[in-house]
Amino acid sequence: METQKKYDKHSPIGVFDSGLGGLTAVKEIIEQLPHEDIVFFGDTARVPYGNRSRETIIEYSRQDMRFLLAHDVKIVCIACNTVDSMARLTLEQEFDIPIIGAVSPAARKAVQLTKNKKIGLIGTFATVSSGAYRKLINKLAPDCTVYSQACPLLVPLIESGRFHKGDAVVETVLRDYLLPLQAQGIDTIILGCTHYPLLYAIVKDILPGVEIVCSGSASTEYLREKLAALDLLNDSETEGKRRFYVSDAPEEFATHGSVFLGMSVREHCEKADPDIYQ
Ligand code: DGL
Repeated sequence: METQKKYDKHSPIGVFDSGLGGLTAVKEIIEQLPHEDIVFFGDTARVPYGNRSRETIIEYSRQDMRFLLAHDVKIVCIACNTVDSMARLTLEQEFDIPIIGAVSPAARKAVQLTKNKKIGLIGTFATVSSGAYRKLINKLAPDCTVYSQACPLLVPLIESGRFHKGDAVVETVLRDYLLPLQAQGIDTIILGCTHYPLLYAIVKDILPGVEIVCSGSASTEYLREKLAALDLLNDSETEGKRRFYVSDAPEEFATHGSVFLGMSVREHCEKADPDIYQ
């Protein structure tokens, strides 16, 4: 068991993802817990994780965890549905630190919101094929049906900055993925990948009237509860500090990240190598 001993309530929250998508979780944390320091790691050299084997996803996410532990974080948010679906249980067995995932909070939220019991799910190949959402939803509400669609083209498009409304390529691809779900009559859709909230406005246009659940926002509510229960909420009154580490192309990350977060990321962003945490 790998342990993290050097933390207290003023230690940072660790957040990791395979890339840019984890910023959707960071944005929620900044809005809901503004006094918390955050250390973010995005594995931009190896994104996407969603088309890889379980073994590889587990190995990469172990390194991501070690990177964050080396920064003395007090809790880790897995801001990646792919890692949560494929590696969460292993990470919980191997690391002695509280871990917040993305799948369970979003599944619960969708079950609360649906009225006709037809829930759509979009995610990476790994997330959809793991069946993690379906199993959880069926446990919470056996009368719900989950209609799933793997969307392997979306993460590469988003990572290359194609997530803005009016981008004909991403709009066409997204329509192709979503229309079959709409035809099933879903009234709620889970954006089961932390990259997808960047496409929120386009999804809303394609699926009017459908409730949209973003995994990042649902999990921040759990994060707050967990920190409070562990007496680890930061009681400082000053704005939290945020540091961003990526394994490749920090400039590109900082450009897209600054637009998305509405704050300058560049001067807080550095390149880091997760391989040293093997
Ligand atoms: N952001 C990741 C997720 O939530 C997916 C990106 C990837 O495939 O690496 O599943």
